[in-house]
Amino acid sequence: MRNPQLNANGELIHLLSTEGLPREALTRILDIASSFLEVSDRDVKKVPVLRGKSVFNLFFENSTRTRTTFEIAAKRLSADVINLDVARSSTAKGETLLDTVDNLVAMHADMFVVRHSSSGAPYLIVDHLHRTGRSDVHVVNAGDGRHAHPTQGLLDMYTIRHYKKDFSNLTVAIVGDILHSRVARSDIHALNALGVGQVRAVGPQTLLPTAIEKMGVRVCNDLQEGLRDCDVVIMLRLQNERMNGALLPSAREYFKGYGLTPKTLALAKPDAIVMHPGPMNRGVEIDSEVADGPQAVILPQVTFGIAVRMAVMSILAGN
Ligand code: CP
Repeated sequence: MRNPQLNANGELIHLLSTEGLPREALTRILDIASSFLEVSDRDVKKVPVLRGKSVFNLFFENSTRTRTTFEIAAKRLSADVINLDVARSSTAKGETLLDTVDNLVAMHADMFVVRHSSSGAPYLIVDHLHRTGRSDVHVVNAGDGRHAHPTQGLLDMYTIRHYKKDFSNLTVAIVGDILHSRVARSDIHALNALGVGQVRAVGPQTLLPTAIEKMGVRVCNDLQEGLRDCDVVIMLRLQNERMNGALLPSAREYFKGYGLTPKTLALAKPDAIVMHPGPMNRGVEIDSEVADGPQAVILPQVTFGIAVRMAVMSILAGN
């Protein structure tokens, strides 16, 4: 089956998932992101890569980091950025997603950055653009349901490479609500493609997808076992908004069993880094002493996200 992210020449024209992206494609994105990192340190924080292009941010779900860093990234590439105010848009009057897209294409959109609570929504848009002869309009998935969040996966890979240099001997523990996490899925696909030593999926059985071991991870229901001697700890939020019914006794019980504290972090290697895609729930999955401690690289993740999103938009636009 055709990969909807690629054109007939095998070039990346949409970014929908890290699944199926080979190591070379991932490494190229990370390398180009490296070259964009210094743009943010210039007096004039701009390069003309997307000059004259219109990037539409369509966020049908809440966001702080992703929406803002996409906007900053597009502006640093000199694009015109339009943030659709979904709550005040005609979506609230019953307009369909594809009718909204058609209208924005009629306004000469060049790229859509889409976040949606429904898994597959960005794929629907790509399929629609192909069927209506507008394959020249690019789509970036900024998080769809529990399915994928590819730019978060990429910025996580950028962060790990920045601090650890080489993936091959690393043990990475992904801890928490993996069942509902698009970040976990995007990270696991990317880590495996980049040849990481071992990925551990750590959490209570109720928060792990069935047959997750088929994704090439080691399952650990015990936090101590999951953290022991690992190089990278990626903590995840409990996604209560995606849970149907109680999967846990209480947030307090969860923190007792799976919260990252100075004591549990001491099981990892002394130079282990702590990551979190945000938003964090302090005292639920992570203790403030760890979140604000010397091993946390949670805020650098956000900064790297700008360069990674610049790289992605630049590549999609053919630069
Ligand atoms: N990591 C992430 O997606 O954060 P936001 O929901 O704030 O965009």
